[in-house]
Amino acid sequence: MRSHYCGGLNKTHIGEDVVLKGWVHRRRDHGGVIFLDVRDREGISQVVFDPDREESFALADSVRNEYVIEVRGTVRGRPEGTINPDMPTGEIEVLGKELVILNKSETPPFQLDEHQNVGEEVRLRHRFIDLRRPEMQDKLRFRSKVTNAIRNFLDDNGFLDIETPILNRATPEGARDYLVPSRVHEGQFFALPQSPQLFKQLLMVSGFDRYYQVAKCFRDEDLRADRQPEFTQIDIETSFMDEEEIMGITESMIRKLFLELKDIDLGDFPRMPYSEAMQRYGSDKPDLRYPMELIDVADLMAEIEFKVFAGPANDPKCRVTALKVPGGAQLTRKNIDEYTKYVGIYGAKGLAWIKVNELEKGIEGLQSPIIKFLGEDVTLAIMERVGAENGDIVFFGADKAKIVSEALGALRIKVGEDLEMAQCEWAPLWVVDFPMFEETDNGGLTALHHPFTAPSCSAEELKANPLEALSRAYDMVLNGCELGGGSVRIHDQGMQSTVLEILGISEEEADDKFGFLLNALKYGAPPHGGLAFGLDRLIMLMTGTDSIREVIAFPKTQSASCMLTEAPGEVSAAQLRELNIKLRKTP
Ligand code: AMO
Ligand code: AMP
Repeated sequence: MRSHYCGGLNKTHIGEDVVLKGWVHRRRDHGGVIFLDVRDREGISQVVFDPDREESFALADSVRNEYVIEVRGTVRGRPEGTINPDMPTGEIEVLGKELVILNKSETPPFQLDEHQNVGEEVRLRHRFIDLRRPEMQDKLRFRSKVTNAIRNFLDDNGFLDIETPILNRATPEGARDYLVPSRVHEGQFFALPQSPQLFKQLLMVSGFDRYYQVAKCFRDEDLRADRQPEFTQIDIETSFMDEEEIMGITESMIRKLFLELKDIDLGDFPRMPYSEAMQRYGSDKPDLRYPMELIDVADLMAEIEFKVFAGPANDPKCRVTALKVPGGAQLTRKNIDEYTKYVGIYGAKGLAWIKVNELEKGIEGLQSPIIKFLGEDVTLAIMERVGAENGDIVFFGADKAKIVSEALGALRIKVGEDLEMAQCEWAPLWVVDFPMFEETDNGGLTALHHPFTAPSCSAEELKANPLEALSRAYDMVLNGCELGGGSVRIHDQGMQSTVLEILGISEEEADDKFGFLLNALKYGAPPHGGLAFGLDRLIMLMTGTDSIREVIAFPKTQSASCMLTEAPGEVSAAQLRELNIKLRKTP
């Protein structure tokens, strides 16, 4: 066994005999003396081999990067002038006396300190080497600290860690399921959990009162920088607590986490209704680090000739909105073209703009391709509405409300980042008062959170006006990222049936898909509610990383495959036969 970790040595160990075990990070030959930087998970120590110990010197000379070695030696202070203040172990070195090569290594596909020039694909294919890098080790170590702190917090607050099954019936969380064929039950499939939602509700019916789980969830959905097909939730459910209490306890958990592990006080999280978030920021997860807001100007545009704006201005399903960017008049034509392209991703058909050069000159002091369509009165009224000042640029979006909100909401953040407009480092908030339902493209209704979320009105009111109804759901948002979401659930079977009916889920279908939950609600289900945090996203934010893959040991690529194991893979004909599955040749 080792006596010390390489990274754990310091001045206090001078004079001690130590045994180190680790990897050769670098080997340097300095005129007859060999230096090995030996690395383990705690850091790097410099080991020196002198030629007078012939055997170990020869071995030290023969090792290459990433060989695994054992070193016995004595810690000594580094001679004056060779102290390295940038290295935690930079004041000492180990005089190597014995060296054993525990294993050799082929030349690694990339140098550990030169990863920046290495494509992510290569890193993921050789993840076991990539993970040797101190940066990756730090992130995973931090992740472990976070889960540990969360477990401690929840344990201290009386939550029980209970596991729920992975082989399930499909749960309706909204994404596509990963399916697993059953061998024993011909033609039948398990679904991997999109979340433990129904089981945690059943645990409340069983009286466990406070549950949590560090739960693996699986969703076959389009991947983005903050989404993985397989991810981890901190899943929480409680009985007899209302939304205030649930938000209270989970907020204090996140606050404590930031305080303990990052020495950051997030303060009290403000609350914002969903409608306000959409209106002011064009997003249900507004990034409040940036001060800019969307300002509706449809009423000012209703009478103008220019159809691009007048059309949406007179359509209640549309939005005509301005985004004022302080200091944005400095943006070049090229910048504006890039932003126009950017909003195109969200379906925007253009990006009109007005630069405010000298407002005191009236319309003469403005620069824009659209003023000629708007006319002087409308233009100046808009300038007044948005509070334009010299040096600003005002962008405009006019289209279906969803497109404008998404496009200008995203532009707001992009411009905010580009012009470095963040006013604080951390901006948490709760988004509350979500609508119960939203309309699908084919005119039906779908649950905004999930079908087990309680409405904040009676069943009668819900039936009469489903699109107006609000739910008892809440999302925790940090820096524009949805960190977690949850709701108070329906615990009344009648209400649950009403919601399913409104969603157009027949009794038969409901019974088939989650009859077990409906049944459980008949047997003394307590009022209950909870929330789930995305652990990977939390770690991503806390470590200041911009890709979720950087905080997962073995992540999947954007196309939902594993570069290391090459999963998913084909299976043998025999396995398919056993499962009674016949593959259809894709044309
Ligand atoms: P929801 O679907 O909002 O709620 O998920 C909760 C949180 O999980 C994280 N998350 C993801 N993280 C990485 N990759 C993904 N593909 C992914 N999808 C979701 C997000 C999100 O806020 N059962 C409910 C919770 C409840 O009502 O208690 C649920 O799963 O951070
Ligand atoms: P056009 O007359 O189509 O050249 O458009 C004039 C200006 O309006 C250009 O700057 C376009 O980018 C912008 N524009 C066009 N359609 C929209 C839209 N739906 N929303 C916002 N701006 C638009």
